[in-house]
Amino acid sequence: MSDESAGPPVRRILLIGFMGSGKSTVGRELAERLGWVFEDFDELIETRVGVSVSEVFAVQGEAFFRDLEAEVGAELLRRDRIVLAAGGGWPLRESNWSSVDRATLSVWLHVGAGEAVRRVAADGRRRPLLAVAEPEAEAMVLLASRRPAYEKAEVSVETEGMDAAGVAHHIESLARRRGPLI
Ligand code: S3P
Repeated sequence: MSDESAGPPVRRILLIGFMGSGKSTVGRELAERLGWVFEDFDELIETRVGVSVSEVFAVQGEAFFRDLEAEVGAELLRRDRIVLAAGGGWPLRESNWSSVDRATLSVWLHVGAGEAVRRVAADGRRRPLLAVAEPEAEAMVLLASRRPAYEKAEVSVETEGMDAAGVAHHIESLARRRGPLI
């Protein structure tokens, strides 16, 4: 079989992007396609602390949550054959990127503010940062300020107008072009 891939092996795929960009839905789908494990940073945090992310924000505060998120991310980024959904704010802390090595394909899932707010409202998980009077305006401001952090991803993929299966399929093709999946 010819090997068209140009780069080093891909051992894990990290999905980053704004709330509502579809990281968890696409991540599950992608992991299934590859026969890999899927992990979501927020879910692991909730399992560890025994309360919701929203409660951690309310009781211990955002800074405490960001430390937990950094810890969980560093741990998960050492595992192989895994698809990871980072929380939307994880890419903002520069030092978190030191755990992203050459064997990690990082992917930014694009979504606009309006669609992000619609998806978040529909998925039933409370997002403390969007629990404001004008969530779409807030999402626009946050998205603009986060853009440089999201741009650190190796590749970016548009999600609007595509279903999770289509996005997962596209990422799988990008990954296979980047290097052997092992
Ligand atoms: C956050 C995103 C959330 C969660 C927390 C903060 C953010 O995760 O970590 O509410 O700062 O963007 P999702 O991106 O999975 O919604």
